[in-house]
Amino acid sequence: MRAARAVPFVLALVVAAARPVGHAQQAPAAPSFDTDVRPILDGVCTRCHNERKANAGLNLTTLLDPATFASHRNTWEDILDQVKHGDMPPPDEDPLSVSERAAMVSFIEAAFARADRELKPDPGHVPALPDARGRAPLRDPSHVRLFHGSGRPPGRRSGEKRRVPDRP
Ligand code: HEC
Repeated sequence: MRAARAVPFVLALVVAAARPVGHAQQAPAAPSFDTDVRPILDGVCTRCHNERKANAGLNLTTLLDPATFASHRNTWEDILDQVKHGDMPPPDEDPLSVSERAAMVSFIEAAFARADRELKPDPGHVPALPDARGRAPLRDPSHVRLFHGSGRPPGRRSGEKRRVPDRP
């Protein structure tokens, strides 16, 4: 009797508990190191890449801090490469889920892009000095966009108009 009356209550609890999860899936939070990178590295990768068992000479227990993106960039590039292409964990191991892989990859790529933006000089700040006769230079450096996100110079597109500054 008591148990029977408890059933609707328990059902209501289950429904209430399930609902916020559904919402969370519709609008996933932005990936973060703490939720999307460290747990995979620590829980999956360090099983084979640690001090005692450093497969491929890699000890990933030293990379559990996002500051290592800058100090160990090359290793992180390797990690990104391996995870992005599904090469790690190795094929005979449980693979990462599609969403785990996507979140980890997107966090690392965003961190690299941010670091690159901060490191590369902004050519827009180079002053355009007039030449000896006092004319404006033909190519104002502030129009030259050297880097654009990907780190590759974009190059002039064929249809693009050449921008020649007005003479003073
Ligand atoms: C079951 C053990 C195992 C697990 C788990 C594992 N690895 Fe590996 N890893 C290896 C072995 C063995 C190699 C060397 C041989 C190879 O490249 O396949 C390797 C190589 C690598 C390399 C170097 C590849 C190269 O040649 O440049 C990287 C980077 C790497 N692993 C990252 C990871 C990451 C990141 C994870 C977690 C997502 C991970 N590994 C999980 C065993 C493992």
